[in-house]
Amino acid sequence: MAVITCIDDLKTLYRRRVPRMFYDYAESGSYTESTFRENCSDFARIRPRQRVAVDMSGRSTASAMIGQNVTMPVALAPVGMTGMQSADGEIKAAQAAHKFGVPFTLSTMSICSIEDVAAATQAPFWFQLYVMRDQDFLEAIIERARRANCSALVLTLDLQILGQRHKDLKNGLSAPPKMTLPVMLDLATRWRWGLEMLRTKRRFFGNIVGHAKGVGDPSSLIEWTAQQFDPQLDWDKIARIRDLWGGKLILKGINDAEDARIAADFGADAIIVSNHGGRQLDGAVSSIRMLPEIVAAVGDRVEVHLDSGIRSGQDVLKALSLGATGTYIGRAFIYGLGAMGEAGVTKALDIIRKELDITMALCGERDVRNLGRHNLLLPPDFLTPWC
Ligand SMILES: Cc1cc2nc3c(=O)[nH]c(=O)nc-3n(C[C@H](O)[C@H](O)[C@H](O)COP(=O)(O)O)c2cc1C
Repeated sequence: MAVITCIDDLKTLYRRRVPRMFYDYAESGSYTESTFRENCSDFARIRPRQRVAVDMSGRSTASAMIGQNVTMPVALAPVGMTGMQSADGEIKAAQAAHKFGVPFTLSTMSICSIEDVAAATQAPFWFQLYVMRDQDFLEAIIERARRANCSALVLTLDLQILGQRHKDLKNGLSAPPKMTLPVMLDLATRWRWGLEMLRTKRRFFGNIVGHAKGVGDPSSLIEWTAQQFDPQLDWDKIARIRDLWGGKLILKGINDAEDARIAADFGADAIIVSNHGGRQLDGAVSSIRMLPEIVAAVGDRVEVHLDSGIRSGQDVLKALSLGATGTYIGRAFIYGLGAMGEAGVTKALDIIRKELDITMALCGERDVRNLGRHNLLLPPDFLTPWC
């Protein structure tokens, strides 16, 4: 592709270059995928409000997330198996984020380990924690994140049990892929991916393999999740994790005002309004639709961030205008990574920053921190809470 102008162009390239199994892993939601689709279509229903004859010079997208300065309030979300989308993918994404001046969040289910990413990057990153039944593993991984100088713990609350994604079961998703005939035929057309993957030793779940005991098949995310994720996670356990960690804490996966109130009372540094990109509770309301109600409930007590469905700078502007102070992209950066490695992640961030900047200007705003409800036009039913 000669000229890449938008996130969708990166997705087209990504689809061509990455094995089908990993494309499907990212580009899917649970069950009927209705929430996965609505996360994006609800963004499209919101309109930016056009203003004219306002001085547009000297614009800034700079802001802060949990006290950390960012060149724009868009962090990279934790994405499991990022190192299967491109060899050493977590390191490439972390380096791109650092150079761009936005936070990178490493998933528990990453291919590159916490130590790998810490050794290859110059700036502290955030670590996302899935809570496991194995207490020794849990304590050890929190300690590893602390030793790696991670500057925030992002505790994911919406995946105590895995929402089923049909494609992953049909494809036999694993890391590394098992060499069945369909996989080999698919890989034959993705030789660049295969060559890079052969050159790295990082092809397994780096935070798990060699660290967790009694894991049946460490290559299978689905099997491992079913065995190891703690279905008994509750607010008491969250409090114990907060005490063990002792640093900045972000609670991810809140999509309900009641849960947001509990999280605010609990004293987190931020919450992420998220439905896991439509990968968990199929039919859940899109996070952009839930955002205004949650901001009204807790926005004066805790930083409210948002993910799920962001594919452009326009989407970022909409989330910020509805009261989020930070946003995250998942798939949007994965498309870039699979398409062009580190340069593709930088490209994705660059596209989003330019779109945000120009949309802001056309809305008559110069500073991203001044965006508000006055910058949007909403359809009549948008602010009516579901009940
Ligand atoms: C392929 C994939 C893997 C993911 N893995 C994780 C994970 O390991 N931990 C986590 O907290 N969230 C995970 N998520 C959810 C993202 O952090 C984020 O909530 C979601 O991608 C946001 O939606 P978006 O992709 O539409 O931007 C994953 C999402 C995708 C697409």
